[in-house]
Amino acid sequence: MIAILGAGSMGRLWAAKLPTGQVAFVPRPEQSVAPLAYHFRPLQGPEISVQIRWLYDFQSPSLLVVTTKAGDTLNALQPVLSRLPDTTPIVLFQNGLGSQQRVAETWPNRPILAATTTEGANRPESGLTVHAGKGETWIGALTPTGETLVSKSVSTLAETGLSVQAEPEILTRLWQKLVINAGINAFTAILNCPNGEILNHSFYQQWIGPLCNEISALLAASGQPPRSPTSLRGAIETVARNTAANTSSMRADRLARRPTEIDFINGYLARLGAEYGIDTPVNQMLTDRVKQLD
Ligand code: PAF
Repeated sequence: MIAILGAGSMGRLWAAKLPTGQVAFVPRPEQSVAPLAYHFRPLQGPEISVQIRWLYDFQSPSLLVVTTKAGDTLNALQPVLSRLPDTTPIVLFQNGLGSQQRVAETWPNRPILAATTTEGANRPESGLTVHAGKGETWIGALTPTGETLVSKSVSTLAETGLSVQAEPEILTRLWQKLVINAGINAFTAILNCPNGEILNHSFYQQWIGPLCNEISALLAASGQPPRSPTSLRGAIETVARNTAANTSSMRADRLARRPTEIDFINGYLARLGAEYGIDTPVNQMLTDRVKQLD
């Protein structure tokens, strides 16, 4: 049995793709016992009806997949981990950085792994989950006991048929996604536009250069492979063009009046700057502007 904590778009995508009957959602307090039912629209082929049961107290999962929002993760995990065997691998799928390290620091002896994915999923209406874009998923260990469980976790999640691979340098992989999110998400939320449109806005054009200078300095200070501001900007703009019509996750959160993950994207970079003595006024400004919208 594979348990999933977090029944948002990503959780529902993995639940729908895992072999039928082998997956359960971790119930929230006061959860009704009726299975969670929804329609799932795959990349190809007809829509299917999915029913996922809730994990019963006495069931011990072989893997816990955590697809909560970054800001909810620690609190959502606390009550679950008091009932979960110490040896069960926990795979964190959060966006940005900061929340994964907090989980690993809180439970350093548990097998904690982090995943980063470019699979796209959304819920255009309640009761419907859409697999919106094919991507790739990488998994790597954050704690020493996690190391031995990477390949087992990869093969379990590869049963979905999605592309899942082991990543020995998972922090570097998480940083690569963070760079893209830091250069796109806040701008789309502030300007309230799809990803591609930010490129034509003077607000973006004014700040993207200084933002990339800050990120380049932070990468070097963090011991990550160095990247020039020009190469960072190129990577951000390639993704913005390739996903031009998409609504970023941060803009979607804002439109749905949900809290955004800004604290784990530009907010994380601003905190890191304070730690390393690197000025990060643009990351701080973007964080403050998104928080004002929140
Ligand atoms: O957060 C998101 O929405 C995505 O990571 C990205 C790359 C910005 C595309 O929408």
